[in-house]
Amino acid sequence: MTLILGIESSCDETACAVVRDGREILSSIVSSQINVHTLYGGVVPEVASRIHVENISAVISEALRESGVSMQEIDAVAYTQGPGLIGSLHVGVQAAKTLAFIYSKPLVPVQHLTGHIYANSFVGELKFPLLALVISGGHTELVWMKNDWDYEVIGETCDDAIGEAYDKAARVLGLGYPGGPVMDRMGRQGKEHYHLPTPKTARPYDFSFSGLKTAVLQLVQREEKAGREIIKEDVAYAFQETALGSLVDKTCAAVKEYRPAMLVLAGGVAANSRLREMITERMKEIPDTELIIPPLKYCTDNAAMIGAAGYAAWRHQAFGTWTDSADPGLEMPHNS
Ligand code: KG4
Ligand code: ZN
Repeated sequence: MTLILGIESSCDETACAVVRDGREILSSIVSSQINVHTLYGGVVPEVASRIHVENISAVISEALRESGVSMQEIDAVAYTQGPGLIGSLHVGVQAAKTLAFIYSKPLVPVQHLTGHIYANSFVGELKFPLLALVISGGHTELVWMKNDWDYEVIGETCDDAIGEAYDKAARVLGLGYPGGPVMDRMGRQGKEHYHLPTPKTARPYDFSFSGLKTAVLQLVQREEKAGREIIKEDVAYAFQETALGSLVDKTCAAVKEYRPAMLVLAGGVAANSRLREMITERMKEIPDTELIIPPLKYCTDNAAMIGAAGYAAWRHQAFGTWTDSADPGLEMPHNS
């Protein structure tokens, strides 16, 4: 039995979890700062790091208390090394190093997006080769994993991440931050009315969302100028159908070419109800590939996923050192 303590602080959630053998969550504490950042219409990095400092000790103590595990029993301390906000990351890195130093435990640095992928281990055993669609506030990537802990990015966004496009489109519509959940709800009430251009990219598995974001802005300005009332639900509908349609088309094309044993969704945008519906429907055409969609609470940032990815890293002896530091632009590890 292996017990990993995971720590996550890359953006605006301070989180700690205890995970057994990468699959079983003994505790998962997430302290969200969302109420504070909502006041500013987005995450304010300096504010985020200060709140992490205030909360991290209590979050770690609570995760240990709830798991019933003592620090002496923990096998390794896994932490998010990057990508993310530098100040926020530092808080988690220092907390992890302090615990590892005091209790003489190995350190396991984890790349945040690998955490989102391994969050799927809480649903079922991952089967390889695996294709992961990683969709978050900062990233949009198709990741090919021939084996466990082996990553190859086969497609990525040429400009904005899909979560970023959601947040910006929501801002144009005056819907507040974060935009994803409210656009999701509003889009369900909308109907086909406005038309938005389908994103185009040079490489088949790359993505592009900045043109779509601009098209939403232009649409709103055009309607305002013409003195017509904007039907926000219909804009959200058009945005979702276009953005998610592109995501699903490209992902299914990659599944048909690569033939993975499993397709997993990962990251905050995987919480989107329309996307979950669309991909489930489309994957019925490709029954040889099993589809896993993580439960909502494991789509957005948490530390259990860092414990799960940390366990995979631990099994591959991917230990860190005392000189490792937070890396805001950290890329996925690549083995093959
Ligand atoms: O993975 P995550 O929690 O943080 C990052 O690592 O970025 O993702 C946050 C992103 C935000 O852009 C948020 O608007 C989006 O996920 N999001 C959603 C939904 N819930 C969260 N986007 C679309 N539909 C949702 N239901
Ligand atoms: Zn994330």
